Amino acid sequence: MSIRRFVRGTVPWDQLEAVASEVGERYGQEAVRVEFLDADNWLSTPCVMNERWFVKVVTGQNALVHALFTGARNLGAFSSGTEGFFEPFDGPVEMAEHELEATRKLRALGLNAPRPVEAFEVDGLGVLVLEYLPEFEPLDALPPDEVESHLPELFEALAVMHANGVAHGDLRGENVLVYEGDLYFIDATNVAEDGLAGARAYDLASALAALEPLVGEKAVVEAALEHYDPGGEQSRTRSENATALLEAEDFLSFVQVRPDHTFDATALNGEIEKAASADEHASR
Ligand SMILES: Nc1ncnc2c1ncn2[C@@H]1O[C@H](COP(=O)(O)OP(=O)(O)O)[C@@H](O)[C@H]1O
Ligand SMILES: [Mg+2]
Repeated sequence: MSIRRFVRGTVPWDQLEAVASEVGERYGQEAVRVEFLDADNWLSTPCVMNERWFVKVVTGQNALVHALFTGARNLGAFSSGTEGFFEPFDGPVEMAEHELEATRKLRALGLNAPRPVEAFEVDGLGVLVLEYLPEFEPLDALPPDEVESHLPELFEALAVMHANGVAHGDLRGENVLVYEGDLYFIDATNVAEDGLAGARAYDLASALAALEPLVGEKAVVEAALEHYDPGGEQSRTRSENATALLEAEDFLSFVQVRPDHTFDATALNGEIEKAASADEHASR
């Protein structure tokens, strides 16, 4: 554990100590060893306790930053004529609870996510406890050919979420973990039911934006056309999937607003337009 990492975090020592001792008390641990993860600490302070629990500590400041991001997304939703689609997060505890709920929903759909344990409050901080995955590679750390080999599974999983009233909300390479050859979805957000259509398009736009720098616009658009089938059961054709891509295209500029996405929007837009018009010609 690095002291520097600890200091850089936004949670003061004594508060983190209080969280660790609460975890120890809840799970009958005499001592709790805390390791901090190499993360940006924008939205939470993630740590591992006794190599068993993955614990995310959410401060009021984290919740505020999250609300700002959510605002940008909702702005996108408003300007494209729909209501705001991500649930308003009013505080750190609610943020932890929402992520717990979202993780449960993903697993209920048969998708992989760390086993949810619980969410609670310590001194006004939100605390989320999940199963700790000891070994994984984030998708964006893999070589391009390996990333490409996971694209069918990724777009199929996204379609399963979207066909069942769930959206992820923060699809990025580092939020998709490859563990024992399977994809695990982490860091999910709860989406307001009435905003689901917008959230789906935003999710698809985020996935395209995250993958374009890794495998190129052609491979990612082709994989989405082939495997993103939110109608379920192959009910959709490539042509309908192309329509979903066009809907996602409207959200690319809002994804670009985020500091944690860097991608070639022009290349992606061009490739989506090409796919949509090829499809139009084919269906004539
Ligand atoms: N269950 C887990 N087990 C082990 N490591 C995890 C687990 N969940 C997330 N991580 C690691 O911690 C990082 C931060 O977690 P994440 O849930 O994405 O939090 P944040 O909201 O700060 O982005 C992830 O990018 C991943 O590397
Ligand atoms: Mg994350």
